[in-house]
Amino acid sequence: MPNLFIVGIGPGSKDYLTQKAINTVKNADVTIGSWRAIDIFDDVGKTIGLNVKDLQEKLELAVDLAIDGKEVCVLSTGDPGFSGVLKTILKIAKEKEFNEENIEVIPAVSSLQLAAAKNRISWDEANIMTFHGRENIEDILTVINNGQPTIALPSKSVKDMARFLLDNGVDENRKVTICERLSYPEEKIVTTSLKEVINSEFSYMCVMIIYFDKY
Ligand SMILES: C[S@@+](CC[C@H](N)C(=O)[O-])C[C@H]1O[C@@H](n2cnc3c(N)ncnc32)[C@H](O)[C@@H]1O
Repeated sequence: MPNLFIVGIGPGSKDYLTQKAINTVKNADVTIGSWRAIDIFDDVGKTIGLNVKDLQEKLELAVDLAIDGKEVCVLSTGDPGFSGVLKTILKIAKEKEFNEENIEVIPAVSSLQLAAAKNRISWDEANIMTFHGRENIEDILTVINNGQPTIALPSKSVKDMARFLLDNGVDENRKVTICERLSYPEEKIVTTSLKEVINSEFSYMCVMIIYFDKY
């Protein structure tokens, strides 16, 4: 029976929490996640907050607690299997010889899916990419001109992505949509051109859509 649950919370608003996520968190001995993620659950027992700096340490703690027989939830924004904590937890579990069969993944709506939905894009006809936590973003150049929209989680920032594309010969008038803080009250969806993105300010919480046509 699984006792380590990797729970997707969706893009951030309660509206996108699944009943499965709510019930799993409610029944857990311990829930570990960012405070932003923990705060969207009304019924949660013992909690342990984490941040970018202590992420590895807290994920190791999650596996240790599961090894001790506790029911543990680790919260992941969006879907755990898309640029989420799933990969890291599996690696830690392997190192600590925690049986993978005891890990259950609870899927959720990814920020990328919500960006596609908000812009009426069938994501089976789009280039789906994530550069989150990656320095090398050259892969985007292999798909950017294949006639499909590219939906991407940026590496450092939306601006850096735009600068990289411009430096590599992509037309400055290419149409781009930036989807910022999706599902939150401050959600902002802006459609503009690649060259205008360089002059705009966006937070780290963005999904970037680069279309094939011009703005
Ligand atoms: C560690 S990744 C997690 C991705 C997540 N697993 C998912 O499926 O959406 C974090 C990045 O996801 C994107 N992201 C997460 N939530 C978002 C939201 N509500 N609105 C826009 N982008 C979001 C941002 O690019 C952010 O830097």
